[in-house]
Amino acid sequence: MTSTEQSKIARPGTGTSTDNPAAAESVFLDSTLQLLSPLEVMEGDVVVDLGPGAGSATVALAQAVGERGRVYAVDLDSTMLEATMTAARAAGVDGRIRPILHDLERGAPPVREPVDALWSSACVHHTLDWEASVRALARLLRPGGVLCLAEGGLPARCLPWDVGVGLPGLEIRLDEAHNRWSTQWFSGRAGARRPRRGWAEIMTAAGLTAVTSRTALVDYPAPLSDDVRTVVLDELAARVNRAKPYLHENDAAAWELLLDPTGAHWLGRRTDLALLTARTAFWGRAPR
Ligand SMILES: C[S@@+](CC[C@H](N)C(=O)[O-])C[C@H]1O[C@@H](n2cnc3c(N)ncnc32)[C@H](O)[C@@H]1O
Repeated sequence: MTSTEQSKIARPGTGTSTDNPAAAESVFLDSTLQLLSPLEVMEGDVVVDLGPGAGSATVALAQAVGERGRVYAVDLDSTMLEATMTAARAAGVDGRIRPILHDLERGAPPVREPVDALWSSACVHHTLDWEASVRALARLLRPGGVLCLAEGGLPARCLPWDVGVGLPGLEIRLDEAHNRWSTQWFSGRAGARRPRRGWAEIMTAAGLTAVTSRTALVDYPAPLSDDVRTVVLDELAARVNRAKPYLHENDAAAWELLLDPTGAHWLGRRTDLALLTARTAFWGRAPR
């Protein structure tokens, strides 16, 4: 299969929010490393990164497993696997990574050996049936192996309450509109099954034990560096774009002014932009 044919496997709505996932992942790297720590990955381990995006976690996992270990990077989008392998080559760990083009909707990825640790960040919530997906992933683990899902947390706060354009509280109303968009996106797909419970319960129902969670704070105070500001603006633009049909017209107009780099109100010129958010990871063990 050519790379163009392979990339057609990716479905809309399953990928990263912005065109530069590597930049976003580097802003969130500290929190990723904190959330990876419960996996307790050791030299020689067999690890899976499901939905690696640009591969920042895959590289950290490959460094942890050492020369004798392996990391299976599994994604339905060949461009993500290519980005992951590019990051791995730059870090000199590509020889420890096995890319697998696979859609989790088709069941567990074809990893033919027991898995010590499986990490997946912001991927499983894209699937139609979270319970079925988690059950499939849990079956890959060796007895005592760990599954860690980074899902949820808190919405980001980047703007002051009153930016002087539109009504105060723009970001709070954006969250609400975005939630309406994601609910519609999720349930508008044929075969989507409402989860009706949280990740910890879903993982426990899949047979994992001692399921718990950890949350990492992401705190970049104002004024932001150019790199972080670019990621914040890209993510806000992507969020506004998705939520637009559900925004009040006054809020939509305010966001247009704030996100227009040629206009007087562009957020990119402000020194009071920050990035405060929290990411949660749930993890549990296969019974021994
Ligand atoms: C939002 S990105 C998250 C990337 C990275 N893990 C992170 O936390 O920044 C979601 C990733 O999961 C992949 N993905 C989404 N749905 C998938 C599915 N059904 N099967 C396999 N991979 C999937 C996407 O292609 C993408 O790489």
